[in-house]
Amino acid sequence: MSPIIRKLSIPEFTINAPVLVDVYIDAMNYDKAIRDTRIEVWRRNSQNPGFTAVAAVIDDQVVGIAYGFNGSPDHWWQHQLRRGLRQQGGPTEEEIHIIYDYFEVAEVHVQPGFQGHGIGRKMMHELLKDAASSHAILSTPEIDEEANHAFSLYRSLGFSDLLRDFRFDGDQRAFAVLITPLPLQHSL
Ligand SMILES: CC(C)(COP(=O)(O)OP(=O)(O)OC[C@H]1O[C@@H](n2cnc3c(N)ncnc32)[C@H](O)[C@@H]1OP(=O)(O)O)[C@@H](O)C(=O)NCCC(=O)NCCS
Repeated sequence: MSPIIRKLSIPEFTINAPVLVDVYIDAMNYDKAIRDTRIEVWRRNSQNPGFTAVAAVIDDQVVGIAYGFNGSPDHWWQHQLRRGLRQQGGPTEEEIHIIYDYFEVAEVHVQPGFQGHGIGRKMMHELLKDAASSHAILSTPEIDEEANHAFSLYRSLGFSDLLRDFRFDGDQRAFAVLITPLPLQHSL
């Protein structure tokens, strides 16, 4: 399985947002009812400073999407992180420094049927290779024994724990928030 992995320009991302969101909905097994809202949110996210998107394409079919942008004190997500760090005893000096200089990996998804073949790994390398930040941060739903592709992938890329069993406002699920220094130390 050898996909073409390449960056998407902001216009390419915006135009193709419906197809990219479909990959996300299939990968996460979400209800299609969220489609229009997510398209709107993804298009809005593409306006964030540092926005970078990577697609995996096989035979003209998009089978993977990953995107992210620079973390910002204006973002809801960063407010949530700060709350989480405070709740676990306050950020360390290093964490305070990082919180001003990180790339948020907002989404990474591979179409079912194409998962577990290294596509996610290639997309993460492409996504993060030119990031100007000192660290990358992402969140992923908690799962027993970290037994899914997402955890395996993030661990194998060098991501470690920033927060565990964290609950974002408005979401009942527990999340792990993971962090890695950049550039990635773990090769393809
Ligand atoms: C999470 C996801 C994006 C990962 O993409 P992927 O293409 O399946 O991932 P990869 O094949 O690159 O890596 C996954 C596995 O291969 C391993 N792997 C691949 N290449 C490797 C390498 N060179 N060295 C070591 N391990 C490697 C990873 O550690 C991981 O192990 P596992 O198969 O035992 O779980 C994808 O599985 C997916 O979309 N899942 C459903 C949606 C989801 O969970 N999205 C993320 C939400 S945070």
